[in-house]
Amino acid sequence: MPPQKIIYEKDKEQIIGYSQERFSIDQPVATGTYLGPINASLPRACEIPLLFQPFQVKSLKFANRLLVAPMCTYSSKDGFMTLFHLAHYGSFAIHGAGLIITEGCAVEARGRTSPRDAGIWSDAHIHKLEEVIEFVHSQGSKIGVQLAHAGRKASMPAAYSTLPESDFWPDDVVAPSGGEEHKWDHEHVTPQELSIKEIQEVIHAFGQGARRAARAGADMVEIHGAHGYLIHNFLSPITNKRTDKYGGSLENRARFLLEVIEAVRANFPAEKPIFLRVSASDLVEKVIDGPSWDIEQTVQLAKWVKEVGVDVFHVSSGGNVAQQVIEARPGYQIPFAERVKKEVFGLYVVAVGHITNGIQAEQILQEGQADMIAAGREFLRNPCFTMTAAKDLNVMAKVSQLYERGRR
Ligand SMILES: Cc1cc2nc3c(=O)[nH]c(=O)nc-3n(C[C@H](O)[C@H](O)[C@H](O)COP(=O)(O)O)c2cc1C
Repeated sequence: MPPQKIIYEKDKEQIIGYSQERFSIDQPVATGTYLGPINASLPRACEIPLLFQPFQVKSLKFANRLLVAPMCTYSSKDGFMTLFHLAHYGSFAIHGAGLIITEGCAVEARGRTSPRDAGIWSDAHIHKLEEVIEFVHSQGSKIGVQLAHAGRKASMPAAYSTLPESDFWPDDVVAPSGGEEHKWDHEHVTPQELSIKEIQEVIHAFGQGARRAARAGADMVEIHGAHGYLIHNFLSPITNKRTDKYGGSLENRARFLLEVIEAVRANFPAEKPIFLRVSASDLVEKVIDGPSWDIEQTVQLAKWVKEVGVDVFHVSSGGNVAQQVIEARPGYQIPFAERVKKEVFGLYVVAVGHITNGIQAEQILQEGQADMIAAGREFLRNPCFTMTAAKDLNVMAKVSQLYERGRR
């Protein structure tokens, strides 16, 4: 029988196609699953490396502990995901990524870094995201959505494309504190200070983003609290000069984030985990006298966020102040992850930053510095990074069933 043509409506968008074409063939084993040693005669071949042991956080089970870090692809229009996203995230799933975290998806249109960012500020965004998630799931892989608001870093040019001025919103860029002196640098827009009412609206928008991610089938959400975006702007005493209940003491600077977490938790299924990404430091201690955001405050924050429903703490650094000194080298952010891991009991930790091979990733896990490893650029250089990392560790891992002949 020829395939039956179907036409159905989903969120007002008409989809025309053949039902059979929307599904891949069955994957008997999730991609990225440990299958055994490549060479059984090598020392310790019978031990399963931690990187290829499955992991579970709440209801989310993933085949290995190597995650794709969130990375903006600047390939959306009006926030909608495209066929590029399907190919991009799909290729990581085909090649065994344990968990994929999408690029930052803006919870408000004005919270995009650029007009090309992905968004989740309207129900209309759900369907395209759902298609990507559905494909990733068809390979047995897992995927979650990063919920973002760029704060004072919004309305900037998109990498790789030149866009007309009318695509930007320079008069509607917001931050905890506004005015010329709060621009990130001279090329960025002057931010407007958020009123208390607007703060409540942004918190609500994060909650709605989480609800939409759940409707699209996301396995987790990650709140983007790092890299000088809105949440980080609130946390740091350099970018937050407010004198109301959202500024001043650490408790007050953390209030916005804690309320965002509560909104996200209330709108995301209780059995699914919430990740939080933070910058552990503004990285300006060597160049700026006076208070900045640092690892001591990060450890305290980690204790608080755990209490309000964060399950996994993803530790990055920097991005909040243009004078930052980043001494990037392999594993440069690991000591920050390790501090949180050692001092905050019961909170899972993800390490990220210049992690480019299986041996290095495994060592971080073996030394108890983190529970999971995220890699960004290595996955761009090599979408099969999970397989390469497996090979580094003498491990055979499952690739998509449709690629199995490639082993012979
Ligand atoms: C092209 C690109 C886009 C990025 N976009 C995001 C993003 O949307 N959200 C985020 O939290 N981090 C983003 N990052 C930071 C990465 O997630 C990661 O933390 C950083 O690249 C360091 O890890 P790596 O050395 O493995 O690449 C981006 C990085 C790159 C290279």
